[in-house]
Amino acid sequence: MDKKNLTKNIYVKSYGCQMNVYDSDRITNLFESKGYKSSDEIKDADIIVLNTCHIREKAAEKVYSDIGRIKKIKSDLNQDYKLIVSGCLAQAEGKEIFKRAPNVDFVSGPQSYHKLPDMLENKTNKINDDFLQNEKFKNLIFKSSNKVSEFVSIQEGCDKFCTFCVVPYTRGAEYSRSVDSILNEVKNYIKNGIKEIILLGQNVNAYHGLKSNGKQSDLVYLINKISEYDDIKRIRYMTSHPIDMSNSLLRCHGENNKLMPFLHLPIQSGSNKILKKMNRKHTVEKYYEIVAQIKEYKPDIALSSDFIVGFPGETSKDFDQTMEFIEKIKFVIAYSFMYSPRPGTPAAKYNQIEFKEKKARLSALQSLLKQQQNSYNHSFINKELKILFDKKGRHANQYIGRSIYNQSVFAESQNNLIGLIKNIKIKRSTNFSLEGEIYE
Ligand code: SAH
Ligand code: SF4
Ligand code: F3S
Repeated sequence: MDKKNLTKNIYVKSYGCQMNVYDSDRITNLFESKGYKSSDEIKDADIIVLNTCHIREKAAEKVYSDIGRIKKIKSDLNQDYKLIVSGCLAQAEGKEIFKRAPNVDFVSGPQSYHKLPDMLENKTNKINDDFLQNEKFKNLIFKSSNKVSEFVSIQEGCDKFCTFCVVPYTRGAEYSRSVDSILNEVKNYIKNGIKEIILLGQNVNAYHGLKSNGKQSDLVYLINKISEYDDIKRIRYMTSHPIDMSNSLLRCHGENNKLMPFLHLPIQSGSNKILKKMNRKHTVEKYYEIVAQIKEYKPDIALSSDFIVGFPGETSKDFDQTMEFIEKIKFVIAYSFMYSPRPGTPAAKYNQIEFKEKKARLSALQSLLKQQQNSYNHSFINKELKILFDKKGRHANQYIGRSIYNQSVFAESQNNLIGLIKNIKIKRSTNFSLEGEIYE
């Protein structure tokens, strides 16, 4: 690489899930290893990477409007730049992107982005949408930048084919990394002072990577292995699928005290009829069973989920069942979305529900979830929680961290709390966060 490149800047924007953010960090690390500097400003960037998502319609629209905005900024400044569209939208739309946005230079899917520096340098091809999971992980660079907590992608892709979802098409078949490759990444982060590891996967609990002896492992094996590192104080994992929730994983919550008492377990709907149409392969009863079991091992487990409202065929009775389900379980947090028909997925061809109806249902569901979250957070007032602090707040001497239940917690201190676990007595709560004082 010539000397001029050493001063070049790269700007990377994420549009999607945690794995998309993880990929953005890897893309940044790859270009940093080639001498580029990471920048938060489009106007300073020689390379702009839009790392896209395809999960709902809005995600794609945002990308195209950003592409137009970038073109304007750069032409106003009369600057030369290379524009890369990577991620799940890139995988789904491929060369169509060049038609819609001629100022895009390169397109790369989520399983081939390790080739981007080479694509730019040698201009061999403008598009790469191969599924090269194995090769990709061997070629990535894992560097943590002043963080306390790091995500580690252990499993990618999906073979479940829920009828609403694009992930099996954009991320490809389910793939598990080897135990050694994951532990090497974790060891790298430990050198950078990381205290918490969050294991990531579209179906993280389906993880079945190989051990060095060639035998298959599972998520429990991996969690226990990582917890052997003294420097790692906390371990989390997401996202799990109900049908892969093994008894040993549920038990692990009661046995491994580094595994945090928080479970993100999407159900999508509280109606068995809708779950069937979604091809979810589990029932509402199965979900209740999992919750009852995990509470036996870990009575204080905090539960979180995902919901889709207005899926084709969802009657008001089906929707009421979802509301009843939420009433019964009581989630500490949950993510909810209006069903968005995705091209190429089976449900896009079903009879659709009117937007107005979807919107009304979403708003009712969200206000119930908000109420539950509020009362959960409120129940911690005057109680103590162990908080791992990971960043500074907006005010002087303010620090923000996470409780063992994954709540955001604010506290003030004259000393730097970043990277430390402190006992905090909770004084105030809101929907989204808690506030307290150091209590020792
Ligand atoms: N693998 C995870 C979810 C991955 S996608 C699981 O099995 O649950 C993250 C969330 O986006 C999903 O849980 C779902 O709630 C939502 N989602 C996916 N496709 C969607 C669509 N077409 N419309 C609306 N929401 C969708
Ligand atoms: Fe999508 Fe279903 Fe796979 Fe989750 S399990 S990634 S929702 S297809
Ligand atoms: Fe989006 Fe792809 Fe993640 S579609 S949600 S970036 S796996």
